[in-house]
Parts: sequence; structure tokens; C-alpha cells
Amino acid sequence: MKTVLITGATSGIGLQLASDYLKDGWQVIACGRNAEKLAALQAQNPAHCQTLSFDVTEREAVLAAGQSLTQSLDLVILNAGTSIYIDDAKHFDSERFSRLMQTNLLGMAYCLEAFTRHIPAGGQLALVGSSAYLFPFTRAEAYGASKAAIAYLAQSLTLDLKPHQIAVSLITPGFVQTPLTDQNDFPMPMRIPVTKAVADIRQGLAKRKKLISTPASFVFFLRLLNRLPYSLQLWLGQRMVRA
Ligand SMILES: NC(=O)c1ccc[n+]([C@@H]2O[C@H](COP(=O)([O-])OP(=O)(O)OC[C@H]3O[C@@H](n4cnc5c(N)ncnc54)[C@H](OP(=O)(O)O)[C@@H]3O)[C@@H](O)[C@H]2O)c1
Repeated sequence: MKTVLITGATSGIGLQLASDYLKDGWQVIACGRNAEKLAALQAQNPAHCQTLSFDVTEREAVLAAGQSLTQSLDLVILNAGTSIYIDDAKHFDSERFSRLMQTNLLGMAYCLEAFTRHIPAGGQLALVGSSAYLFPFTRAEAYGASKAAIAYLAQSLTLDLKPHQIAVSLITPGFVQTPLTDQNDFPMPMRIPVTKAVADIRQGLAKRKKLISTPASFVFFLRLLNRLPYSLQLWLGQRMVRA
């Protein structure tokens, strides 16, 4: 039986991943802050589901979670994340920026420290980034920067974990229907159901793909935009800025 550890398993993409891996007979270690939601997930299959409740921004708590593990991890999916917009760039709120970076980026680093050492040769590590870093989106100074950093982190880790025979996947979703995007009040082209996103992600992970994009066509389009001259990308981005 294979074991997968998933952060952010109480909602959205992480919850769907955890439920689907459980249904497929995997041993699932589900992580999140919300103990009630973790308990509800565990109730789906108590014999195969273990839970770890911690805040990814608290390094000591994350490391303690790692130390509590007694088994090796065939697959680790670092998915916990949030979105905080910078609404007034002129009066830049570095506290909001810092809070977002703490969760999306430093939280991921703490999880890398806690869990990567439990992945044996032949195992896999997946980082959930976003396709948002491919294009200059308005108000996304913090979110986009965190996801750009994660993309680089994944590339560099791919090189340095190869000698340990650990495969690294970067997951770059477009818009997926989850509580995170339910809060958005702007058009979200090609927003897909979480079941479809997770089916694509799981298929990519089964093939040990280095880059997993879902929905593929939307992310491909963003990658094309990313190849445009810098000034043209900014001109297109400017058209989305609210008056
Ligand atoms: N939905 C999209 O369209 C989309 C697109 C691109 C990328 N993504 C990325 O996909 C990942 C999951 O997003 P989602 O849409 O599924 O969001 P979601 O429904 O809001 O779920 C976020 C998950 O992250 C966990 N989390 C947040 N802050 C945490 C913290 N400080 N400590 C521990 N866990 C924390 C939450 O758990 P608790 O509340 O229990 O702590 C929750 O399980 C994120 O990294 C997001 O950036 C999403």
C-alpha cells in the first residue's frame, strides 16, 4: 500500500486529492489546521486515513509533525496555500504581503524540511504552484510572487533531488472551483470543477510528470502570453486593471 501526505487537505484541491487517493486504496496522511474537517475526512476511511493538524506558518509545529511520522512517504503533495490581494499598491501593505508569503512560500519551505527526508528513493514530491505567475495580473503582487518563487523552487529541487531518485512535479492550475476562487469577484475564464483538476493532477503524478497543468489549454494559452514581449504583456495586463 502506498502512502501520500497532502497539506491543505481540508478544502478544495487538497480535500479532493485526499478523498480520491483514499478511494483508490492509498494510505493518506491529511494535513490542515481545521481539526473538524480533518476528522470528517478521516471518517471516510479511518483505517487508511491519518491526520496531522498544524499551521504551515509555524515552523516548530511543522517540524514536530514531521518527527511524528513513523512511515516513509511515497508521495508528498505540498498544496496548502491562500490568496491575499494587494488592493492599494500606492499604500503597499507589507503586512498582507508578508502573511501571504508566510503561508504560500515559507510554509512550503518548513514542510520541505519536515517531510522530504521521509521520501525514499523512487518517491515523489509535488509542489502546488499556480499558472498565475505566467502573466502580470492586477492586485496579484503577493500571490503571483509567491507562485513564481514556488516555480523556481520546484525547478531547483528537481535537479538536487534527482541523485536521491526523488521525482519533483510542479503543479500549475488555472482557475479551479474551490472556496479559494469562490471569493473572487472577477471573471475566471475556463474555471473547471475540482474533480476535473484533481483527475488531471493525479494522472500527471502517476506518470511522474515534471510539470502538470490543468486545464491544459488555459495554461498553454498563458504560457503563450508569457512568451510575448514584456511591454506587450504589461499592455494586456493593464487592460484588466479596474478603474
Ligand atoms: N483554486 C484555484 O483556482 C487555484 C489555482 C491555482 C493554484 N491554486 C493553489 O492550490 C492550492 C489549494 O487551493 P484551493 O483552491 O484548494 O484552496 P482552499 O479551498 O482555500 O484550500 C486551501 C487549503 O490550504 C490550507 N491552508 C491554508 N492556510 C494554511 C495554513 N496557514 N496552515 C495550514 N494549512 C493551510 C487550508 O486548510 P485549513 O483551513 O484547514 O488550514 C485548506 O485546506 C493553493 O496553494 C492555491 O494557491 C488554486
